[in-house]
This record gives sequence, structure tokens and C-alpha cells, in this order.
Amino acid sequence: MSLQDFVKILRSRWLTIAVTTVVGVLGGVAFTLMTTPLYEASTRLFVSTTSGSSLSETYQGNRFSQERVASYAELLTGQTLAQRTIDKLQLDITAAELQGHIKADAKPDTVLISVNVLDSSAIRARDIANTLSDEFVVMVRDLETPENGSAPDSRVVVEQRASIPDGPVVPKPAQNIGVGLALGVVVGVALAMLRDLLDNTIKSREQLEEITGTGLVGSIPLDKERRRQASISFDKETSGIAEAFRKLRTNLQFLAVDNPPRVIVVTSSVPSEGKSTTAINVALALAENEKSVVLVDGDLRRPSLNKYLDLIGTVGFSSVLSGAVSLDEALQETRYPGLTVLTSGTIPPNPSELLGSQSARKLLTELRSRFDYVIVDSAPLLAITDTAILAAGADGVLVIARFGNTKKEQLSHAVGTLESVGAPLLGAVFTMTPARGGGSYSYGYYGEYSARTEPSRRLEITRNQTREITESSQTMFQPSVKSRKSGPGD
Ligand SMILES: Nc1ncnc2c1ncn2[C@@H]1O[C@H](COP(=O)(O)OP(=O)(O)O)[C@@H](O)[C@H]1O
Ligand SMILES: [Mg+2]
Repeated sequence: MSLQDFVKILRSRWLTIAVTTVVGVLGGVAFTLMTTPLYEASTRLFVSTTSGSSLSETYQGNRFSQERVASYAELLTGQTLAQRTIDKLQLDITAAELQGHIKADAKPDTVLISVNVLDSSAIRARDIANTLSDEFVVMVRDLETPENGSAPDSRVVVEQRASIPDGPVVPKPAQNIGVGLALGVVVGVALAMLRDLLDNTIKSREQLEEITGTGLVGSIPLDKERRRQASISFDKETSGIAEAFRKLRTNLQFLAVDNPPRVIVVTSSVPSEGKSTTAINVALALAENEKSVVLVDGDLRRPSLNKYLDLIGTVGFSSVLSGAVSLDEALQETRYPGLTVLTSGTIPPNPSELLGSQSARKLLTELRSRFDYVIVDSAPLLAITDTAILAAGADGVLVIARFGNTKKEQLSHAVGTLESVGAPLLGAVFTMTPARGGGSYSYGYYGEYSARTEPSRRLEITRNQTREITESSQTMFQPSVKSRKSGPGD
């Protein structure tokens, strides 16, 4: 994995990392709040020995003290002294418990011992430290006094007494939160990597092209506005999504230039991948280019064009096929110039049969003769055969994959279905691609209309790209008032 891949994963999974980081920090805070505060009180003991008069005696006395110091440190944390302290202060703890809270450090090459006592009460910490030290002085005197009652060889003085500690030494909020934060980030990054490893959704142009065996002809960015209003007003809009549809239109117009596809089925593997939204806007983009376009709702089970475009849903495709109304009666004008719609009509009991009928084929042929383009919205390919039947009779099929949502198996299954009926695949379209950093194109996870894998096609696309640039610069300066090609359906 390159550094770039790593950065991409971090960017695409920033939410995971943010969540674990917040959890880590909250964990640090919770740990801090749950920890009983402990106060530390300290005393310092000085060990002295009866020094002789001569220099060498003094030196030896000093050595003797230093050796003593090490043993004293042991005795300070011992059970005997702990018990004596407990008895003296009438504490309600065991000697072992108290021992666990006492620390005695002998500084090397000195005759000093520092004693630290931890306790949940600041006052008690001080009392224990002082009492313990006083008891130790007595204990040493008892131990060091020879049998004959002469002066003890060594004695201990409490050089510094304990005072009430200002604040607790435990918990350490900054340290706990810091550790929580660091752990959160590390776990978040690890989780992001793991999720990326286990992610089997399609997220790159390469994956999409490999699975579909065709080139990417469009990347439609995610645009929240589309949830409210599926259709884009191309005469007003210059947003990223409008530009993406214009590019898709251009690519469509230059695909198979010798035999341009005019009946185009828009489909995908599962619901909610943006088929209807894409079909509507591809049709509108073509209509913007002064083409007469009919948009047909080929999803006879769950039609949506009527809802998305505020049209009558009860008269349409199925009504014409059943002979209830004529085609002219069923075609509906829209508020968009150049766009006519044939909604699905009432939901028939046998959609697959109806779509596979001779009449359906005739109907599409009729529409083909009346309009420059017939764009067919369709049902998802997996689970039902409706769309495969439709696709087999079309000039071309655009297969859609929703970025980071469509699973690889789903798409390959869908493409397999299309191949099995011999449907001509025109190209793949990515929908709802993340539009970060001022437009989807700056997001490096997928490319845009770049060279395909086959060398012969690469040439074709390079040529197309050149035209596309010319075209899109033209469309940008196109006047919004357009003349329409008139067809019998208009
Ligand atoms: N480019 C897009 N940006 C944001 N939302 C989108 C986009 N395309 C489609 N949607 C939303 O996704 C949902 C499913 O879209 P739809 O076109 O009905 O999918 P399908 O026809 O595949 O079931 C709808 O709520 C639609 O508004
Ligand atoms: Mg739909």
C-alpha cells in the first residue's frame, strides 16, 4: 500500500477514526472520574551514627550509616511498622493494605530516606506518614540499642515532617485523556484499514471497469438537492452534477459513432442506486442539446418517473400495451423543453411477460422513429427478469453502480445477466460519488473517462475526450432558450 492509498483510506474513513478518537477521549475522562483520588504525603528521615573523633572514624561511621540506610528502607515498608502505625492511629485497614501504600527510597550515597504514603484522604496521608516515621524512630532505637544498655550505634531523625498535600497525585487527567486520545486514534486507523480490507463495495474506476468489462462513461457526484428534486434544470444549473451529466451526454453521443445508440436502457443491480435520477437527467441533458427525447418508465413494478416529474402515473407504458389508450394519448409533455415522458401506467400483473411481448418491441420501435433518443428507466437487474428482457431489445445499456454501496458480486451478477441475454453494454456510470474538496474530480479514488484497458478503445476515448472538451465549452455558452426538434410526439 502506498502512502497515497493510506491517505485515501484515512480520508474516506475519517468518521470511524473520529468516533474511536472521541470514544478514547471519553474513556480517558471516564477513567479519570472513576478513579478514587489519592493523596501523597512525604517525610524525610536522616540516619546518623555515633561518629568517632578521628577523621577515619567519622568516615567509617558515614559508611556504616549508608549501609544501614538500605536495611532501614526495607524495614519502613515492612509489616511490623505498618501494624504499629495502624494500632497507633486506629486505622480500619490491614497491615498488608497499608504496606501497599508506603514507599521508602534510600538515596544512593546519602544517609537520607524519603518516605511516601498514599491515601484517599489528604489528612490521613499526612498522619500516616508522620506516625509511621515517628514509630520508625522508636523502632530503630529499640533495634540499635546494644544488650548492655549503652548508647545506640545508630539513630534516625525525622528531618522533614509531612504536611497536608495540596492536590491528589492520582488520577492524572491530562495523562489519562492523552492516552485515551492516542489509543483512540490508533484503534481508529487500524479499524479503518480493516474495514477497507473487508470492504467489497465498488469504489474505484478500475474495479468498475474490470467488473463490467466496459468503460466508465460518467461519474455523477452525490448531490443532496437531488433527494428533494430529482430533475436538474439544465438551463439554470452550472453545478458539478449538471456538468457531470453533460459529460455523460457527450460521451454517449460519441460512443459507437458509426451506429449511435438511440434506445438506451439505464439499469443497475439493486434498488436505490440512482437509476431513475440518472435516467431523468441523462434525458434532460440530451434535451438541452436540442434533441427530442422520450423518457420511458420501464420499471413496471415500482415506477418512479411519475413521482419524480409530477406526472400522471396511471396512463403509460402498460396502458398502451394493453390497448387501453393510444401512444399519443399516453405520452406526457413535461415542463422541460424537448422532454416527453411515457410513465409506466397501472401496475400490470405480468410485467415480465408484457415487456417481452411483441407489442412492447413495436412500441419501442415506434418511439425510436419519433424521437432522437429513447431513454428507458428500469427495474433492478437482480431478482427479476424484467430489465434483462428490456435490455435485450435496446441499442445500448448503461449500467449503474453506486459508489461505495454496490457490492462487487452484485454488479458482476447483474452484468452476467445482461451478457446472458446479449444486451449491448454501452458503458458504466458511477453514481453518488463523494463530492469533496470542490468537486468529485479532485477526489482521486476514481478517475474520469480516462483510457480504457483495451488499446483500440483507448484511441476512441482519447478522440472523444478531445471532442468532449470542445463540446462542454460550447454548452457552457449555450443560450438557455433552445429551439426544439419537432417530432410527432411533441
Ligand atoms: N446523484 C445523487 N445525489 C444524491 N442523491 C441521489 C443521487 N441520485 C439519486 N439519489 C437519491 O437516491 C435515492 C434513489 O434514487 P433513484 O434514482 O430512485 O434510484 P433507483 O431508481 O436506482 O431506485 C433517491 O432518494 C434519490 O433522490
Ligand atoms: Mg427507479
